[in-house]
Amino acid sequence: MSDKFKVLVTRKLPPEAMEMIEKECELRVNPADRAMTKGELEKAIQGVEGLLCLLSDTIDEKLLQINPDLKVIANYAVGYDNIALEACTKRGIPVSNTPGVLTETTADLAWALLMATARRVVEADKFTRAGKYEGWGPMLLRGGDVYGKKLGIIGLGRIGKAVARRAVGGFAMDVFYYSNSREEEFAQEYGLKYLGFKELLETSDFVSLHLPLTSETEKLLGEEEFKLMKDTAYLVNTSRGAIIDERALLQAIREGEIAGAGLDVYEDEPKLTPGLVGEENIVLLPHIGSASIETRTKMATRAAKNLLAGLKGEELPHIVNPEALN
Ligand code: GLV
Ligand code: GLV
Repeated sequence: MSDKFKVLVTRKLPPEAMEMIEKECELRVNPADRAMTKGELEKAIQGVEGLLCLLSDTIDEKLLQINPDLKVIANYAVGYDNIALEACTKRGIPVSNTPGVLTETTADLAWALLMATARRVVEADKFTRAGKYEGWGPMLLRGGDVYGKKLGIIGLGRIGKAVARRAVGGFAMDVFYYSNSREEEFAQEYGLKYLGFKELLETSDFVSLHLPLTSETEKLLGEEEFKLMKDTAYLVNTSRGAIIDERALLQAIREGEIAGAGLDVYEDEPKLTPGLVGEENIVLLPHIGSASIETRTKMATRAAKNLLAGLKGEELPHIVNPEALN
């Protein structure tokens, strides 16, 4: 019998983090190069003290009941809507995330999506590869301008701010925001203006979402909201898919209520609402907001540190439910 901590890691992580965990723990790792199924997770969680999981693993009450001895959950993500947080808190299980390290990387991707959507980059690439390029054309693949336009940011946390800084510093945009917290100091420094939700939708040429998924933000953008947006506006989502009513978005795109959308996240990942893939003016990415080599490594070592701290009964560097320890 080993006296090391027993730990489940639900998907192989960058080696730096695996080594950190292996040194101090008896490790159980998902052997497959895909997410664990619900059944696999239910089986594998039995008898472990620590869980390091992904945003695609649903950690619900039932799973916690299967393993009443769980001491800590380290989520490999900044968002933690996949975890039944209240149930963890009630059981005294600290939960951690990986904030900060992925801020700039995710803001970069939001910008990649914004530019790709407005300038039809993906469509143009497909066009060129298909051998359809027969010479420069005055009307060929015209899109929307970015420079000097109006950007509306919904949710002005770390990532929202990083997106705003790029817009102001690099693209001379008028930036508006709608957020729970006013962030007046930042707004003043970068010249951002606060707008009400509806006003922001009506005003913006680009709307970018940077807020967590909660019961209050679920389906925040639906039929009515798309009607408020300009028919020349683009929507970018690198936060969580369920903040958008995907069917309503599809309809709004088809009816020309907005000009296009760039999505990195989906309502029911990895499934896509039927019809999305058929629309040329939607750019679709497979949830890669934080996917740079450096950032994924930092996220992994950060998650590993949180996991190890929890196992040793030490303070977790990035706990999201400190009240669990009362
Ligand atoms: C990614 O979506 C994350 O929450 O880290
Ligand atoms: C990113 O780190 C965020 O919480 O916005």
